[in-house]
Amino acid sequence: MSTSKPPARSSESAGSAAASLSNMTIATEGDAVSDELDPEAVVPAHNGKKTKDRLGPTGRPFREIAEPPLLERHGPAQVLAMCNQKGGVGKTTSTINLGAALAEYGRRVLLVDFDPQGALSVGLGIQPHELDHTVYNVIMERSVNISDVIRSTNVENVDLLPSNIDLSAAEVQLVAEVGREHTLMRVLRPVLDAYDYVLVDCQPSLGLLTVNALTAADGVIIPLECEFFSLRGVALLIDTIEKVRERLNPKLDIVGILATMFDPRTLHSKEVMARVVEAFGETVFDTVINRTVRFPETTVAGEPITKWAPKSAGATAYRTLAREVIAR
Ligand SMILES: Nc1ncnc2c1ncn2[C@@H]1O[C@H](COP(=O)(O)OP(=O)(O)OP(=O)(O)O)[C@@H](O)[C@H]1O
Ligand SMILES: [Mg+2]
Repeated sequence: MSTSKPPARSSESAGSAAASLSNMTIATEGDAVSDELDPEAVVPAHNGKKTKDRLGPTGRPFREIAEPPLLERHGPAQVLAMCNQKGGVGKTTSTINLGAALAEYGRRVLLVDFDPQGALSVGLGIQPHELDHTVYNVIMERSVNISDVIRSTNVENVDLLPSNIDLSAAEVQLVAEVGREHTLMRVLRPVLDAYDYVLVDCQPSLGLLTVNALTAADGVIIPLECEFFSLRGVALLIDTIEKVRERLNPKLDIVGILATMFDPRTLHSKEVMARVVEAFGETVFDTVINRTVRFPETTVAGEPITKWAPKSAGATAYRTLAREVIAR
């Protein structure tokens, strides 16, 4: 648990902060390199006193987060949607690696690939086009049981509900269904007791599939690339989250904003980070994921970074994020 008070999760403050972001400009020192740091070398520390006096990349002091307590029993799961309609911001990478890190802390995790691209499935070493049954069949065919489609992965305590291109048809087909926004919630319900966390990897859109994920979720994690253009869509995303909360899912909460692809050597990354923290305050996780080629490498390896390069800065960062998520 963080030694400081957990962040306030006020939807109004997130909404107004997002609105102010739309009008924001950022100085264009984009390519300027401010210091000599190697991105791999900068990791958020979580090991006690040394952290107290140091400022993290968010500009706030690192906070000590104690080792999460072991669970005596599992479930019911907290469902978290990994959501941002902007493409390539680290949703899938964060789903795999946060999931794997939570599992290292003894949590049982189900990862739901809710993107027809199937990148989450690929990232766990599964060939989506070879699958007979995926999340598509679970949500569209009542006769298909979710437990028969969930598969174990090569990571202990991490299961996967895979997806492939078939899911792209669901967006259109669901429109005609009764209770179309609640479809994912309905199919997940029978397995929630078996897990501690269900992480839903959303596709880069705010369409019906993403609304389904938000309706099924207790919370949203917003991965945000530390790049100027990634700030532009955040107001719309938060507006969508607020609408889903008002109309479909009153318990929906923004668990945190995760800054990804941060490059500590560029002023641009730092400026974007400063703006995000200014706008969203404590909603921004202390953990920041640096830009490193290690992540694309893990996709090729079909493994989370915590397994493929367990001592790397990237693995450490996702473990720290897991601690923060458990603490929030
Ligand atoms: N911290 C990082 N540093 C460098 N590369 C990264 C990092 N995180 C992710 N990547 C790479 O960036 C690309 C996009 O990442 P990812 O697939 O996780 O994003 P996404 O938001 O899920 O994309 P999409 O919107 O297409 O689903 C991938 O090639 C991934 O390996
Ligand atoms: Mg993705």
